[in-house]
Amino acid sequence: MIKELWQYMSSSNALPVAKKMGFLKEAVSMTARAKRCHEAWGAHYQNCQKVILNAAKRAVQNRTVLILGAGSLADVPLEVLASRFEKVILVDLVFLKAARQQAANFANVVLVEQDVTESLSWLQAGKTLVQKPSAWLDDPTIDLVVSLNLITQLPLIPVRWLMKHYDLPEIEADIVGKQLIFAHLRYLQSFNGEVCLIADRMDIEFDIFGEELDRFDPWWDVEPPKSEATWEWELMPLGEVSESKGQKNMVGVSML
Ligand SMILES: C[S@@+](CC[C@H](N)C(=O)[O-])C[C@H]1O[C@@H](n2cnc3c(N)ncnc32)[C@H](O)[C@@H]1O
Repeated sequence: MIKELWQYMSSSNALPVAKKMGFLKEAVSMTARAKRCHEAWGAHYQNCQKVILNAAKRAVQNRTVLILGAGSLADVPLEVLASRFEKVILVDLVFLKAARQQAANFANVVLVEQDVTESLSWLQAGKTLVQKPSAWLDDPTIDLVVSLNLITQLPLIPVRWLMKHYDLPEIEADIVGKQLIFAHLRYLQSFNGEVCLIADRMDIEFDIFGEELDRFDPWWDVEPPKSEATWEWELMPLGEVSESKGQKNMVGVSML
């Protein structure tokens, strides 16, 4: 708890919107959870890294790789990417100190704290205006783009924020959620290089016997592209949040 508070306090240079809306707090809690769930999450991180390396092999040239949702970097094979590509751009709303230190080991790795939806300033102000993202679309050197466990996360905090602070009715919140996912998918499809989408496709709650209790579509009813590969990520092992209920996510990979 003290470490989490310290991590929060020492990120004073975080983007104001990331602090205000709660993304920084979420990044700190996720780091703590990743540590507690180290064993359960290890295979997921390895799978992500393997998929990114395979996607890198498909890139026609090795000029710039753009990783969206790089966060903790635990699922990024940074060393190999930095040696293979001329430039690695890591994007997230929040990078904590550990990720900054890791990236600083490589002269050709750049960290960019940026909102990939390009909509948060509107949403934070209660305006339900979801934009068409355009960052890096004009960079002809981008040979590989990876959207990394990000797309289904995009609506969560903004939608909660709009409902809590602006009393947005559920039906309108649902539309914002769909629009954020759809806009990110369209954005990815607009790049010229290889594009690899890694994202959960179904979130499943299970009981102490491993029996399914419920399942949720994390895509807000937007049709996801077909998966080339899938695996199970035990996001919340039993005991993490509840003694009687856990959650596993089916993660899928698509090359767009
Ligand atoms: C499930 S985490 C995955 C992060 C990283 N790949 C990992 O496993 O540690 C989702 C990430 O999306 C980032 N994120 C959420 N909304 C974002 C936005 N609008 N722009 C940029 N990053 C965002 C969060 O800060 C978080 O790091």
